[in-house]
Parts: sequence; C-alpha cells; structure tokens
Amino acid sequence: MTGMKIKGQIYSFILFGVPSLLLAMLVNAGSLQAGESTNVEKGKALFEGRTCADCHKDGGNLLKPSKPLKGASFDKKYKDDAKLIQAIRKGVPGSSMRAFGVAEISDSEIKDLVAYIRSLSASSNKSK
Ligand code: HEC
Repeated sequence: MTGMKIKGQIYSFILFGVPSLLLAMLVNAGSLQAGESTNVEKGKALFEGRTCADCHKDGGNLLKPSKPLKGASFDKKYKDDAKLIQAIRKGVPGSSMRAFGVAEISDSEIKDLVAYIRSLSASSNKSK
C-alpha cells in the first residue's frame, strides 16, 4: 500500500511539480525582460529626441509608408541587430533617411534605440 502512495507522489510531482517548475522559469524570463524595459524607455526618448519620430511616428514611415520600422517584413529584413544598427548609421542613400553617426547617437544609445524599435514589433505582433 505504501508503494502505491509513493508512486502516487511521483506521478503528482510529474503532473504538477514539473509544470510549475517550468512556469517558474517562464516567470523568471519575464522579469528579466521587464528589467530591460528601461532600455526601451531610454530608446523611446531618443527616438523622439533625435528626430526619428518626426518621420517614423509610432514606428511608421510618413514619407515612405511601405517601409515601417515594425511588422513581419521589417523583422525579416533586420533579423539581427547589427544590420539594423548599420541602416541607422549609414542611412539610405537617395532617400530622406540620412546617416546618423556616433557624434549624434553613441553606440550605447543606438542599442537603446534598437531595443525600442524591436518593442514596436513585439507589441504590434501581440495585438494581431
Ligand atoms: C527626414 C525623415 C526621416 C528621419 C528624421 C529618420 N528617418 Fe528613417 N527613414 C526615412 C525614410 C524615408 C526611409 C525609407 C528609405 C528608403 O528605403 O527609401 C527610412 C528608413 C529607415 C530604416 C530602414 C527601413 C527599411 O525598411 O529598410 C530604418 C531602420 C530607419 N529609417 C530608422 C530611423 C531612425 C532610428 C531614425 C532616427 C535616428 C530615423 N530613421 C530618422 C525617413 C527618416
């Protein structure tokens, strides 16, 4: 009879213990992301302060609406941050998207900007 009881405890650990462990890990990952939101906030302020928002209000593109800074095709084109940083640093020749050098936006500031731009896609994907 005691053998049955132990078996039952093992089963209930697998049934409830394992999922709650996984849940705890998820919650942990979530709070790590929450910690990063300060970067997103800094990035938002930079986005507004360094003129980006004048042309890219809410991650759109006033002059070229087909090229917003969020959504599936943007995410695909700029899968890695390095490429996105490059686009901001070099600008898009022949368009009103000019280059923004280190003198205007420091390397750490550009990371905050990228964090903010990424957050735009995250929230637009969620609302879909
Ligand atoms: C004067 C308007 C203007 C300002 C200011 C501006 N942009 Fe742009 N941006 C554009 C336009 C127009 C394009 C589209 C260029 C093209 O591909 O023809 C663009 C393109 C981009 C792209 C590439 C999008 C793609 O799909 O390839 C990124 C990234 C970007 N802008 C980020 C920024 C950031 C970050 C800032 C601020 C530091 C900024 N832009 C400031 C007008 C602007």
